[in-house]
Amino acid sequence: MSRTRRTTQFSGEILNKIQIKLPALSVNESMARAAVAAFVSQLDPGVTEIADIKCAVSEAVTNAIVHGYRDTPETGSIAITVSILSGRAVKIEIKDKGCGIPDVGQARQPLYTTDAAGERSGMGFTVMESFTDALKVTSKVGKGTTVTMWKKLSERGRI
Ligand SMILES: Nc1ncnc2c1ncn2[C@@H]1O[C@H](COP(=O)(O)OP(=O)(O)O)[C@@H](O)[C@H]1O
Ligand SMILES: [Mg+2]
Repeated sequence: MSRTRRTTQFSGEILNKIQIKLPALSVNESMARAAVAAFVSQLDPGVTEIADIKCAVSEAVTNAIVHGYRDTPETGSIAITVSILSGRAVKIEIKDKGCGIPDVGQARQPLYTTDAAGERSGMGFTVMESFTDALKVTSKVGKGTTVTMWKKLSERGRI
């Protein structure tokens, strides 16, 4: 199941692209976030824009680690693909091969969480959605989840 919002404007040509594959360990979360930010910095983004991207990546990577691989901790991997698109747009794909999400529409609702320990706020997808321009979530139970985010950077940067 997937839901897409305003993705048509992001069909620009791919100008540059990196792929990172990393073990789904919580120690790697900050590295993933920093690596994406470092790559995007070639566009000279504004301070707020880079903070938004870091936050959104952080939520997606944390989800892959704590939810995707909850049944198989410390064995999974996460694949991150970052593309610079023409028109100062960035596409970030975060993919796990974990347990998958049975109902993506429900999972995307604010405050929805399956965390029984009370440590999670259920706001991860809401944060990803509000800090980017478009969010697509595709998932298959037993196969994994792919989160794709698009963000258009301002022309002037430094905003
Ligand atoms: N990569 C994933 N794999 C499996 N389930 C996920 C994944 N990402 C999110 N989910 C499910 O969606 C729910 C909502 O995610 P989120 O909005 O980030 O809230 P939280 O992480 O605080 O629970 C999670 O509780 C979990 O059940
Ligand atoms: Mg979360």
